[in-house]
Amino acid sequence: MTTRRSLIAGNWKMHKTGDEAVQTVQQLKTLVADAGDVEVMVAPPFTALTQVATTLAGSTIALGAQNMHWEAKGAFTGEIAPAMLVSAGCRYVIIGHSERRQFFGETDATVNRKIHAALAAGLSPVFCIGESEAQRDAGQTFSVLDKQVKNGLEGLFSKDLQSLVVAYEPIWAIGTGKTATNDQAQEVHAHLRRLMAEILDNTLAQTMRILYGGSVNPGNVKGLMAMPDLDGALVGGASLDPETFSQLVHYQG
Ligand code: PGA
Repeated sequence: MTTRRSLIAGNWKMHKTGDEAVQTVQQLKTLVADAGDVEVMVAPPFTALTQVATTLAGSTIALGAQNMHWEAKGAFTGEIAPAMLVSAGCRYVIIGHSERRQFFGETDATVNRKIHAALAAGLSPVFCIGESEAQRDAGQTFSVLDKQVKNGLEGLFSKDLQSLVVAYEPIWAIGTGKTATNDQAQEVHAHLRRLMAEILDNTLAQTMRILYGGSVNPGNVKGLMAMPDLDGALVGGASLDPETFSQLVHYQG
């Protein structure tokens, strides 16, 4: 059986100034110092990245960004290029979060360009996909996800995608307190792994980490993480407080 190292990732969204972020990771560094089996990542806002990177020096906590532009440089007011994230100390970048799709006009096509650009810059994309409640109710979950995956990964092959992380985040579960049940999440993750085997290759499908996201909290994390195809979590609200986030990282015991 393939062993995939779990990744517990905190998406801080538009929370925390630089100083607040530093304070959080100072506590977090100590709290998760013993979490060897589980990889930990935090994605602060852009303005806190360099301060957090400095604070994390020597720790095993990885740094991620929440978004980026696909172009390397140019007249794109307000955007951040992949190399800027790398030089700020990022290893990961979240791409295509449903809030980006919903509020900022991101599409499968822009997500695809961003994944290409992130990989070219040596960043590991955390590629977010998920269905709305209406789509789930209409029985369209798998078809919606298949389309997001195929469009998002267009033009990429398994050799390019070794560092790709997928995050399945049902939109109806994000920030709502409504989590997918363990079985609902497992059903989708197993489906996604089969899809990866079909469109890429089976070895990559078996090693690729597929995270679950949407109202993960200390009360539900253990059950979710016990499912065979869930390889970690992308956490919003419950990642902001270091004590709570540390409980998620320590879901095993
Ligand atoms: P939530 O957010 O944990 O607050 O539901 C998850 C996410 O948006 O990544």
